Amino acid sequence: MTRDPRYDILFEPVQLGPVTARNRFFQVPHCNGMGYARPTAHAEMRGVKAEGGWSVVCTEEVEFHWSSDTAPYVEGHLSDDADIPMHARLVDRVHAHGALAGCELVYSGMTAANLEVRQPPMGPVALPVVGTHPVHSRAMTLDDIADLRRWHRQGVERAIAAGYDVVYVYAGHGLTVLQHFLSRRYNTRTDAYGGSVENRTRLLREVLEDTIEVAAGRVAVACRLCVDELIGEAGLQRAEIEEIFGIIGEIPDVWDLMVGDWDFDSLTSRFGPEGTQEEYVRGLKALTTKPVIGVGRFTSPDTMVRMIQDGVLDMIGAARPSIADPFLPKKIEEGRWQDIRECIGCNMCVTGDYTMTSIRCTQNPSMGEEWRRGWHPERIRPRGSDTKVLVVGAGPAGLEAAMSLGRRGYEVMLAEGTNELGGRVALEARLSGLAAWIRVVDYRLGQLERIPNVEIARGSTVTADEILGYEFDHVAVATGCHWRTDGLGRATLQPVPLGDGLEIVTPDTILRGELPAGERVVVYDDDHYYLGGVIAELFAAAGRKVTLVTPEARVSAWTENTMEQHRVHVRLAEAGVEIVLSQVLTSAGSGSVELGCAYTGRPLTLPADALVLLTARLPDDELATALRAVEVGPTVRAIGDALAPGTIAAAVWDGHRYAEELDDPAVANNDHAPFKREVVALADE
Ligand SMILES: Cc1cc2nc3c(=O)[nH]c(=O)nc-3n(C[C@H](O)[C@H](O)[C@H](O)COP(=O)(O)O)c2cc1C
Ligand code: SF4
Repeated sequence: MTRDPRYDILFEPVQLGPVTARNRFFQVPHCNGMGYARPTAHAEMRGVKAEGGWSVVCTEEVEFHWSSDTAPYVEGHLSDDADIPMHARLVDRVHAHGALAGCELVYSGMTAANLEVRQPPMGPVALPVVGTHPVHSRAMTLDDIADLRRWHRQGVERAIAAGYDVVYVYAGHGLTVLQHFLSRRYNTRTDAYGGSVENRTRLLREVLEDTIEVAAGRVAVACRLCVDELIGEAGLQRAEIEEIFGIIGEIPDVWDLMVGDWDFDSLTSRFGPEGTQEEYVRGLKALTTKPVIGVGRFTSPDTMVRMIQDGVLDMIGAARPSIADPFLPKKIEEGRWQDIRECIGCNMCVTGDYTMTSIRCTQNPSMGEEWRRGWHPERIRPRGSDTKVLVVGAGPAGLEAAMSLGRRGYEVMLAEGTNELGGRVALEARLSGLAAWIRVVDYRLGQLERIPNVEIARGSTVTADEILGYEFDHVAVATGCHWRTDGLGRATLQPVPLGDGLEIVTPDTILRGELPAGERVVVYDDDHYYLGGVIAELFAAAGRKVTLVTPEARVSAWTENTMEQHRVHVRLAEAGVEIVLSQVLTSAGSGSVELGCAYTGRPLTLPADALVLLTARLPDDELATALRAVEVGPTVRAIGDALAPGTIAAAVWDGHRYAEELDDPAVANNDHAPFKREVVALADE
């Protein structure tokens, strides 16, 4: 297939100071939970992106001095020559596929509590560090500023020694000392580094000039800048940014612009569409002759072209689209844009960073597994035998398993009991804010249509006896799970007394489109991810009086890891949902829900006509159990939620794992991990 000429503009080279990017696709920095701790896995992941056609592939934020310590988060380190080899490995992997490698140097200042090094962090002023750690930053003296500049220069030298082509000066996300100096939000100094815009820009200007000097034409210098802190005149906003561009607009070789703190920059689809940052970035390109990169969860080539043609951006920056589909540029280049695995904007990728574990992605199960399991987003090894596989259930696990098994060349039958494919994703995507999640289904169905060896049977409920009557060698049972109806969950490990006198339902009822009739609805959320909040929103939109009760101290507590928690709270509060925190369900019946304080047990009664229970889920694994009971028959494995209920990302991943591991003798013996580990090397004593 050939490229659509409409997209030619995306493949024009762009000059970045002394280096040339081969096209306009720029993978902006993103952390990945591998960083300094799993460097080969990290290098391989970046190499796959380069293979997928990105012209520049960057690291995550990389600490260039030991006195800035984001522990326990697993980011990059380049504070010592000993760190150079792991970066050189990453650079090699990127260069091997003809891309440029970029390194984002960071000095976190007061956003890092310095938990490991224990020395107080530094910032423009003395302030408690961001978060709740009982740590204050100390105000930097002029000597400290001189030190910082010297350390940054050393960091640039090390990045060049590692082979990078692009080195960043980073003043974004509210996460770096350079932004802390730049913004009146933090900087209340009264010396030459505080007060006027010119003074607040001084440190950034000096560090940029230092970096250009050290780079000396060997690498391009990028500046990542937050162009609006979204707090009006209390912080950086348009008027100041225009002034700042007047001072430093021509210094770096390329600008990488972003908006807000990280949670806005990486806004989820629940809270904003593709291209949310356009209104803030539009017009800034006119203030500099240097190329401008911007971001916006761009997956549509038409939107990308518009960004370039309208003069908003010169390069399409992408983090999540490159995670969901490392081959996005190549697919557009080869006229296969229908094959793009579009990011759904769920931020499961961000949870890797928040939980300090290797990055994962709902759409791309190979993300983070490139080196340790040898998975690739576009390639999978051929089948290990001429066997036939039945996949029962076409939810996220079943679809992924059928697609990947089909790609391996197995003869596959995908049997779905209903007439709709997609399982929980098809149902949940109908809920407010989750429409983009249907891409999980759309992508896989689009692929399956072109895999002739996979047959799909809709409306086909199969029993164990029927299956045994066919000649399948393997059965993957992807029949999903259901919510418990007895109140048993994390907070209450026993069933809860539930009487008559109010309607008690679970999300399964609601996802079928059956809403209880009563006026006063209590949503009891002991699940803590998105669904409780989304269901509360649904009832509020239907005009009901809604109370969301949770045993946790925050509503939708786990969405902290997707950076949505505070937005969920705001949205619910604005929708009129009453939020009751730290309360455990003790019983329900006769028009009321009885609760007990999670700390003291003190009782609380809520009048209610209906109760929605989000407690625990149970796997629908009867079919797997029945098939396993047969002595001679196909191999049987429950996959996804039918194995253990979890996230959609986990279901996709498990479906993929099943397909990857079928007929693999190496995984048959589980005494050993089925993946490679990078073990910390012992130092010389
Ligand atoms: C998992 C993840 C980690 C990120 N880590 C960084 C980082 O280390 N440094 C940085 O400047 N931006 C980081 N970002 C922000 C991205 O570079 C990007 O600006 C943002 O996600 C918006 O672009 P997108 O819509 O293409 O994802 C991260 C984003 C994600 C999703
Ligand atoms: S995890 Fe979700 S938001 Fe992140 S890249 Fe994948 S699909 Fe996009």
